[in-house]
This record gives sequence, C-alpha cells and structure tokens, in this order.
Amino acid sequence: MRARGWVEGVMAALALLMLAGCKATPPGRLETAAMTSAKHRIFVGNRKEKNPLAATLETIDEGKEAFGHYCVACHGKDGQNTGVPFTMSPPAPLLTSRAVQDYTDGQLKWVIDYGIWPSGMPGSKGTLSDEEVWSIVVFLRHLPPAGSQGEPEMYTQ
Ligand code: HEC
Repeated sequence: MRARGWVEGVMAALALLMLAGCKATPPGRLETAAMTSAKHRIFVGNRKEKNPLAATLETIDEGKEAFGHYCVACHGKDGQNTGVPFTMSPPAPLLTSRAVQDYTDGQLKWVIDYGIWPSGMPGSKGTLSDEEVWSIVVFLRHLPPAGSQGEPEMYTQ
C-alpha cells in the first residue's frame, strides 16, 4: 500500500512537471529526447511480454482490419496520419517513427490497452480483445508506405 502510494506520488509529480514543461517554451531537441526516453522507461510498462501471434500475412491483415476500425480516425489508414484533417496536442506521431518502433511489442500492447494520459491517445482495454491488440501490434511492425492506403473513409464521404 505504502509503496504503491509512493509510486503514484512520483508519477503525479512527473506528470505535473511534464505539463508545466509543455506550457512554458517548447522543449528543445535534447529535452524532448530525454522526455521520450523517460516516457518509455517510466510510464510505459509491460516491456518484457512477448507477442503470442506470429507475423503471418493473415495476422497482419487482422491487425489492419482492427486498426481500420479503431485507430484510423487519428492515425490514418497507413499509421502515418494520411488524410487526418486535424492535429492533436501533442500530435499523433508517425507510427513508423523510431520513437514508436523502439518500443517492445509488450510496450506497444500496453500503450494500446491503456492509452497515453493526458493526451488524446485513448486506451482500448475492454473494447478490443487481447488477440486484436496483439494483431494490431504485428500490423504496426508492417505498416504500408505512407499514402498507399488512401484516406480514412469517414473524412472523404
Ligand atoms: C482520438 C485519437 C486517437 C485514436 C482513436 C488512437 N490514437 Fe494513438 N495516439 C493519438 C495521439 C494524440 C497520440 C500521441 C500521444 C502522446 O504523444 O502523448 C497517439 C500515440 C500513439 C502511439 C505512440 C505512443 C507513444 O508513446 O509514442 C501509438 C503506438 C498509438 N497511438 C497507437 C494507436 C492504436 C494502435 C490505436 C487504435 C487501437 C490508436 N492509437 C488510436 C491519438 C489517437
């Protein structure tokens, strides 16, 4: 109980610091890199869990299908923001970027399950099954070239 309270206190303090940091001048490159690596180390758990699904064409397709329902609105069909008519703050990163691809499969699962608070990235636990999330993780490792999938239908109709 005590240990838990302590961890939560530290997390809250860090979150406040990060918020304060955002309100002041935009962080420099180094600071951003430090914050990103801190985010990877401290906030995003589940580093060690392995993806139980093999990267077959079928799994990639399943992931693409689930991604097409739950993620395209903000990330585009290619995971690279193609055709998304708004920018969020913080913006949705290119899912092909180094910062995202450097996560382990377990961490990507965690990000999708729990989202990134307090940004616009929602958690999907309870909405998506573990199998769907793992297939999305496989899809994220095999994203198609930027622009190759067209724009999300919800914005073109
Ligand atoms: C409502 C818009 C929205 C939806 C829907 C959404 N995301 Fe995101 N996503 C974001 C934003 C905004 C960020 C940037 C968060 C940040 O940097 O704090 C993000 C970040 C991410 C990241 C990188 C996290 C990091 O720490 O750099 C991954 C991976 C991701 N999203 C995957 C997904 C997947 C997979 C889905 C579907 C299950 C999804 N997102 C649905 C808005 C969204």
